[in-house]
Amino acid sequence: MNPSEQNPRLRYVYDRDTGYEAELRLTAALSALVPTDDLVHPDHRLFQIAHLVTEYSWVAIHHTLCDIATDLERDDTVPALRLIRRAKQLAAWPVNSIRLLIDSLPQASFLQMRAGFPEGSSGLDSPGARAVRKAAHVVWEVFEKTLVDHNLSFPELMPATRPGYSGDPGAALLSEVAMELHRFDSVMVEWKQVHLNMVWQLLGGHPGVSEDTAAPSDRPTSMRGRPLADLERLAVRPLFPRLWQESTAMYRSFGGDTDLAYRYRHDTSKEIQ
Ligand code: HEM
Repeated sequence: MNPSEQNPRLRYVYDRDTGYEAELRLTAALSALVPTDDLVHPDHRLFQIAHLVTEYSWVAIHHTLCDIATDLERDDTVPALRLIRRAKQLAAWPVNSIRLLIDSLPQASFLQMRAGFPEGSSGLDSPGARAVRKAAHVVWEVFEKTLVDHNLSFPELMPATRPGYSGDPGAALLSEVAMELHRFDSVMVEWKQVHLNMVWQLLGGHPGVSEDTAAPSDRPTSMRGRPLADLERLAVRPLFPRLWQESTAMYRSFGGDTDLAYRYRHDTSKEIQ
């Protein structure tokens, strides 16, 4: 880690041939960190750890999604539900990493580091983000099949999410699965939006700048030379779009387009005056 440190009390010692390091493969994991002497900037370690914590979290989410697919295939709804809740909690780790960077990484530090990074490196190549997306699609397919096997459709499932529902308990359980998948997806989308927010802070291209009207100097590009519009599009791409569409359908079923929407607009206009 920092073997050239002169003060032995500041030297980080590991690889001590302990059962703890062996069991956790901690020696290998710690060896992945850029040694202090090779860091391109004092904040480089934070930058790398924020990425690694996120990639490890995505491995954990991917693993959990694989288990969820297996449980749903076996029609083991309760264990699947527990795991979806775990995935939702795991998804908060990456959000926290981004918030940490937003709160403690000065823009100047980031830009100095970025100048030293190889061109073409892009978060789009993250193995974790890809693996999670692909596994989520499998979970979705299995969930759709589970509903068919139970002779249920999404519109039939939604009433079971309402408090006081006293119909088929199987439908209630599957509606809980749908709600928890939606909440998990919501935390995944939150990561994308907090990440985009941080990118605007650290690279510029502030919110609301249109690709068509902005001067080229107002539109920073990614390390692979792509406009931030690419990232802005990805930031609104959920894992389970059908669940978000169902929210709109539920809103409509409550008279959303007329009554509720009117009331909301009405109250807002009062606030503006
Ligand atoms: C230091 C702050 C960061 C900046 C300035 C930044 C910047 C960017 C930019 C500009 C893109 C668009 C990529 C392209 O068009 O080639 C991107 C994408 C991405 N970044 Fe970051 N990033 C940062 C931190 C992180 C961290 C900590 C992670 C965690 C692994 C991460 C993961 C990703 C992923 C997965 C994408 C693909 C977008 C998506 O799947 O929605 N980034 N990032």
